[in-house]
Amino acid sequence: MHVGIVGTGGMGNVHARHYKNIPGVEGIYAFDRDADKLNAFCKHHGAKPADSAEHLLSLVGSVDICLPTHLHQEFVLQALASGVPTLVEKPMARTVEDCRAMMAAADKAGVQLGVAHVVRFFPEHELAHKLVKEGKVGTPGAVRMRRGGRAPVGSDAWFQDAALSGGVILDLAIHEFDWLRWTLGECTQVYARSVRLGKTVDAGPYTGDYALCTLSFESGAVAHVEATWMDPSGFRATIEVSGSEGILEFDSRQNPVLRTHTDSGSRNESQMASTDDPYYKQLSGFVRAIQNGTPVPVDGREGLKAVGIAEAAIESAQTGKPVVPVYA
Ligand SMILES: NC(=O)c1ccc[n+]([C@@H]2O[C@H](COP(=O)([O-])OP(=O)(O)OC[C@H]3O[C@@H](n4cnc5c(N)ncnc54)[C@H](O)[C@@H]3O)[C@@H](O)[C@H]2O)c1
Repeated sequence: MHVGIVGTGGMGNVHARHYKNIPGVEGIYAFDRDADKLNAFCKHHGAKPADSAEHLLSLVGSVDICLPTHLHQEFVLQALASGVPTLVEKPMARTVEDCRAMMAAADKAGVQLGVAHVVRFFPEHELAHKLVKEGKVGTPGAVRMRRGGRAPVGSDAWFQDAALSGGVILDLAIHEFDWLRWTLGECTQVYARSVRLGKTVDAGPYTGDYALCTLSFESGAVAHVEATWMDPSGFRATIEVSGSEGILEFDSRQNPVLRTHTDSGSRNESQMASTDDPYYKQLSGFVRAIQNGTPVPVDGREGLKAVGIAEAAIESAQTGKPVVPVYA
């Protein structure tokens, strides 16, 4: 089958690199409103350009929406109405209400809808989930997670406008919210504080460039999530799970990886086989589900719940009060 990519920016390029290696994917069609970007993308990945999203949907067996977050709902609804199985980048949408409309459209059309929560496929996060579930540290009681680095920019600086991206809570902390729900079960309450000191445009809900969120779970466990776009030293993610029988910990800076530092920034070089890459695993899992008619790895219901926790955290940061996430 051919796959479609809508949005040929940062994530569109990451996804295209991996689709090319997935068995059964014959080729890629792409669409972007920026013709120069689209042409450069097609040249680089050997993809074919489409004239519009509608044109692309008529050519493909599945579509991958890699657009800025505030556009997810519109393009996903268009894809589902065309009967095309759809993967959408995280966060699933800007609001829970948008997610609900997407779920309803997927159900009505009987078409698969997946959400690209790639952190579930990162080796340490995947293994930490498995070990906690297996009881390696006993009953999990307290979890601390951290994610952050420099602020992303994106096309037209859309990340910096909280009305479009949801700020650091919806865009970044959502990775941890999803991992925590996946691992600990349902979240019952969120309390969040945030600070805005960076370059976030003064528009939309106040979510800041740094957030500290405290989550309570039905199981009785608690979690602290720290998310930052104010760390010029580069990306870092951490996990610490304290359970009745011990502690499990991970710090992406402590791993024995090769790091390179150039004028364009610092990065960890990966020694991973391309088929072990989390993006490859995520996309090949989605393609396999479409080919076999089986459930997608992370469905819209899961995506909606992560947005529900983020929305509660944003409201808490705005009001200073604890908020119960709305999942229904
Ligand atoms: N999973 C991850 O690790 C991860 C990392 C970064 C971003 N993301 C998510 O991926 C999504 C895309 O982020 P990005 O970093 O690729 O953004 P980006 O700004 O780099 O790319 C977005 C692309 O969409 C195009 N575009 C904008 N409006 C359009 C329209 N109306 N029609 C057609 N094309 C349009 C832009 O020209 C651009 O090429 C966001 O939801 C973001 O939160 C996920």
